[in-house]
This record gives sequence, structure tokens and C-alpha cells, in this order.
Amino acid sequence: AKMPAMDAIRARIRDVPDFPKKGIVFKDITPVLQDAATFKLTVDALADRWRGERIAKVVGIESRGFIFAAPLAYALGAGLTIVRKPGKLPWERISEAYALEYGQDALELHIDAIGPGDRVVVVDDLLATGGTAEAVGRLVARQGAQLCGYSFVVELAFLNGRRRLGSEQVSSLVTF
Ligand code: PRP
Ligand code: ADE
Repeated sequence: AKMPAMDAIRARIRDVPDFPKKGIVFKDITPVLQDAATFKLTVDALADRWRGERIAKVVGIESRGFIFAAPLAYALGAGLTIVRKPGKLPWERISEAYALEYGQDALELHIDAIGPGDRVVVVDDLLATGGTAEAVGRLVARQGAQLCGYSFVVELAFLNGRRRLGSEQVSSLVTF
């Protein structure tokens, strides 16, 4: 029997206890990437959510977000916008600080990357506390673009990131 797509993805997400710190159970998505069929159906499932929504830009979050944002932008015929960690973007940029499940950081966006009226979707591999995605939402809002929603491959539901982002805006393929 053919395994439903989401079960195939779920089966290839590996738990790594105490990484990168004691007490964190890290969800390793590299097995999803390494299997040709699973990687393809993951990108296809992300694209199915946004087809026909006239998305102008897919916003990918460094660094694991880039892995999914680039093929999704290609699949949708959209542009790719990259949000990066501090000190990486060369052009004029804006910055937002955020707290992480296991740390604290900031994210940056080029000021010419997105603009008023652009329909954008923010993509990352995983939603945990939602701090990262929320900071990217603030970057998008500061540029006057229209945030159509957020897409994740994995959602850690017990950390309530969805609540923080506004549930109706969030879609994820696999929930733990
Ligand atoms: C991870 C993950 C998300 C974020 C989710 O990124 O890829 O971006 O954490 O956590 P949150 O919902 O609690 O904010 P990380 O900062 O580890 O960077 P990486 O993608 O470069 O590995
Ligand atoms: N980002 C934040 N929390 C994470 C986790 N538990 N596994 C993988 N990536 C994460």
C-alpha cells in the first residue's frame, strides 16, 4: 500500500536528544532531504498550499528555511527572498531581534527585497516557539508587503508557536 505523503515525511524526521543543548530534542530533517521521493513530495505538498494564490515572493529563513523556500519559489513561479542572520546581507537592510528555543539572535532583510502590495509567504523547515517566524513577519510588515501566511514542514505543537503567529495564517505538513 502507498504510504500517504505526510506519513512518509514524518517517518523521515529523526529525533536527536540533547542537541544542540541538553534537554532539547532536535528534529533532524536531513533524512527527508536525502531521499529523492520524500524531498519531492515535501516540496510538492508545500506548493499545493499556495498554488493559485498569486504569490509574488517566497521568503526563506536562514539556513534550513532556504532548503525548502528555493524549490517552493521555483514551483510557484515566484521570486525568492532571503532573510539572513546578521552580517551576511551586503545591501541596505532592516533588522529584527528574536528569542529562540535554544538561544537569541537577529534576522535581516534587504530593503529592496519586498515592497508594498507584494503577496508573500514565509517558509521555514520548523515551527517551534514561533519567535523566528514572528520576527520575519515583522520584517515583512515593515516593508509594507502582504503576508499571506507561513508554511513549515514540521510544527512542534506543544510550544504553541501557531498561537503566537495567528493560527489561520499557519500551515505545516507534519505536527509533533
Ligand atoms: C531553527 C529552525 C527555525 C527556528 C525555529 O533555526 O530552522 O528557523 O529554529 O525556532 P522558533 O520557532 O523557536 O523560533 P536555527 O536558528 O536553529 O537556525 P538554522 O536554520 O540555521 O539551523
Ligand atoms: N528549532 C527550534 N527548535 C528545534 C528543534 N527542537 N529541532 C529542530 N530545530 C529546531
